[in-house]
Amino acid sequence: TWLPALAVALAYLIGSLSFAVLVSRMMGLADPRTYGSKNPGATNVLRSGSKAAAALTLLLDAVKGWLPVWAVAHWGAAWGLGHGTLAAVGLAAFLGHLFPVFFRFRGGKGVATAAGVLLALEPWLGVAVIASWLLVAVFFRYSSLAAIVAAVFAPLYYGFGDGVAWTANAPVGAAVAAMSVLLLWRHAGNIQRLLAGQESKIGSRKSPGG
Ligand code: G3P
Repeated sequence: TWLPALAVALAYLIGSLSFAVLVSRMMGLADPRTYGSKNPGATNVLRSGSKAAAALTLLLDAVKGWLPVWAVAHWGAAWGLGHGTLAAVGLAAFLGHLFPVFFRFRGGKGVATAAGVLLALEPWLGVAVIASWLLVAVFFRYSSLAAIVAAVFAPLYYGFGDGVAWTANAPVGAAVAAMSVLLLWRHAGNIQRLLAGQESKIGSRKSPGG
């Protein structure tokens, strides 16, 4: 019926809210697409010097991934929505962040939104992936490296946890893998900077590469 399509469309629209841009605008800060890595994401908003704006961006970009998946998981069964819709809605919110309809399809890299989606799909998967991000971030101080490592591990964790922490299914597995591949692709520039020793560390206001 029309319901899965409607849920996917709404998730894409919510995902299209680029909170790095919106929060910066609300707080009277510069547009994150004009400084640092030029990326509309929490890591780059932190380069403005405002921890509050970065934290709010991180929170809202994660919530926009979490909310649509949680809504389908919570109310979807009564409407006959299954794993396929759950996976598609999560992927749609993530794609909204990468290609936002409200911002000429130029969005971010999807780290916070993917975390929110994973937390709603499988809370313990989300916790494991976020813990992996934190571990790398604390030890190496590169937000991008932490995201790259977490993205590599996310599909592996989903597979390893099958029958232990959750029962894996193909649509959700495909969505987790697709988010990881897209996230790694969006970090191509970061990977080049990391290899060249030019990536900026978390909290450093220096532009990456500069
Ligand atoms: O949130 C994206 C992060 O992994 C890298 O951001 O601004 O350093 O390219 P940035």
